[in-house]
Amino acid sequence: MTADHSTEERIREAIANPRNMGEMADADAVGTVGSPDCGDMLRMWLKFKEKDGRKVIDRASFQSFGCQTAIAVASVATELLAGKTVEEALKLDAGDLARPLGPLPPMKIHCGQMVEGALRQALEEEAAGETPAAAEPPSSPAGQTLLGRLSGPAPSGGKLKIVKLDDAGA
Ligand code: FES
Repeated sequence: MTADHSTEERIREAIANPRNMGEMADADAVGTVGSPDCGDMLRMWLKFKEKDGRKVIDRASFQSFGCQTAIAVASVATELLAGKTVEEALKLDAGDLARPLGPLPPMKIHCGQMVEGALRQALEEEAAGETPAAAEPPSSPAGQTLLGRLSGPAPSGGKLKIVKLDDAGA
C-alpha cells in the first residue's frame, strides 16, 4: 500500500507543523461540527477580503478536538482555501480538501468530511450574513468557546453524516 504509506507520512508532517491552527478573533464566519462516528469536533473560522472586485477568503483557521487526521486535513484545507470565493469553496468536497495528503484510508474518510462540514457551515453563515464569530469574547477558553456558541443555519450537507453541535453539546 504505497499510497497509504505516503498519505500517512504526509499526515504525520502536517500534524508536526499544523498551519492556521487556533481561534481567529476577527473572523467573518465560523462553522462547527461534530462527528457521530467518533465524537470528535472541529471548528473553522473564515476571514474574507475584496480582491479584484470579488469577495475571497483571506484566511482560514481551525480548532480541532479530534483525531490527528482531522487536524492534518484541516491544516492543508485552510491553506487551500486562501484566495477562493465562496462559490469556489463550496465546490470543494472532503476529497478535494484532503487531496494534498493523498487518499485517506476508508476509516478516516469521515475525518475529512468533518472539515468539509465545518467549512460549509461557515460559508453558509457568511452567505446568510450572520453575526461574525468576533462577537465572542476572545478570552473564552477554547473548549467552552467550541461548545458555547453554536447558533447559525443548519448545515445543508445532507450527504454528510455530521451533526450540528446544538444537539451534541446541549
Ligand atoms: Fe473522528 Fe478522525 S477519527 S474525526
